[in-house]
Amino acid sequence: MIVAIASCLTVWSISPLTIHQPIRAAIMGVHGYVPDYVLGNEELAKMVNTSDSWITERTGIKERRILKGKGLGTSHMGAEAVRGLLARTNTEPSDIDLLICATTTPDFVHPCTANLICDMVGIRNIGSFDVQAACSGFIYALTVARQFILTGTYRKVIVVGADKMSAIVDYTDRATCVIFGDGAGAVLLEPSTDGNGIMDTILRSDGSGMKHLHQPAGGSRMPPTAETVANRLHSVYQEGAAVYKFAAAGMSEVTRDIMARNNLRVDMIDWVVPHQANKRIIETTAARLGLSMDKVMLTIHKYGNTTAATIPLCLWDYESKLKSGDRMLLAAFGGGFTWGGAYLTWAYDGAKAATAGNGARAN
Ligand code: UT7
Repeated sequence: MIVAIASCLTVWSISPLTIHQPIRAAIMGVHGYVPDYVLGNEELAKMVNTSDSWITERTGIKERRILKGKGLGTSHMGAEAVRGLLARTNTEPSDIDLLICATTTPDFVHPCTANLICDMVGIRNIGSFDVQAACSGFIYALTVARQFILTGTYRKVIVVGADKMSAIVDYTDRATCVIFGDGAGAVLLEPSTDGNGIMDTILRSDGSGMKHLHQPAGGSRMPPTAETVANRLHSVYQEGAAVYKFAAAGMSEVTRDIMARNNLRVDMIDWVVPHQANKRIIETTAARLGLSMDKVMLTIHKYGNTTAATIPLCLWDYESKLKSGDRMLLAAFGGGFTWGGAYLTWAYDGAKAATAGNGARAN
């Protein structure tokens, strides 16, 4: 359906001097933010009955970042990522037409975190809203942002993926607390007529997956009470092994489907950017595709699972290695269940951008 909408909305560039290319929404800059505090496996092993070897073997995670500081929520990290993005792309806050934030850990039930981020970075009087699709949130938000550019409605759209998972993780539950971390990433989308940009996206969901992965209390179905707090119902509930199977299947399905409908062979793919939930899920996805792991972006060892932030943090981390025209597949699976994929070609020389601005992360 997304393809049908996108193709109806395709606008063609009209320069008489160039070969006409359809206008595409392209990522023209990326920036990330992770908090300073590093929570390593050894420290976690002092908090719950776990070990560095179990976490490393079962998940690939060595450490994750935790946002400390009274009164700091997801918006703090999102705003840091957006400030860096504006600086690195020489963009004024007043140039931005729309900001979308994907998050599962908003600062408040309302107002939305996107509103707060705009206020914190000095972006005024534009539309801003949150998208909630758990770990698939960034791909959902990117898909929405792309439509505004394809219709010609907006020219500069920021998409943020940000989560403070430490706010909803129970640090007495070893089955969940070892995998999550905090972080934020942001990208700037603009219209492009050089052939590069987002080619296709796929969004999927299955609400019956709720029973395997959710946060029981705090919403309208079970508002907060002293009892819900005492029973730790405001934290992530996850049946890890069940979610693992669905995630491995969903990630493989979207990558396979998006490749098929864009006539892509494995040897044509330069990069896969998978949601970082568990290194074994990522390896399974790559193996099912027949893709070597050196084409797969990995940050899970140092950031863990930052939910909506994993994909933009990967792009930030690997930016210096990216070349204009690189073919890239994005894939994510998360609570809902939600899952999704995107196929894009990278739109700029990442090495130049990384040395020009205040820096991508070195791997
Ligand atoms: O982000 C999007 C959605 N989330 C995901 O995609 C996450 C998917 N799931 C996973 O990544 C994995 O299922 C986990 C990392 C959460 C758990 O790993 P697992 O290999 O599936 O472990 P399990 O839940 O099947 O548990 C196996 C054993 C159990 O012990 P027994 O019953 O066999 O004695 C657990 O109690 O491992 C035990 N265990 C642990 N042991 C040491 C579970 N967590 C830990 C731990 N340290 N942290």
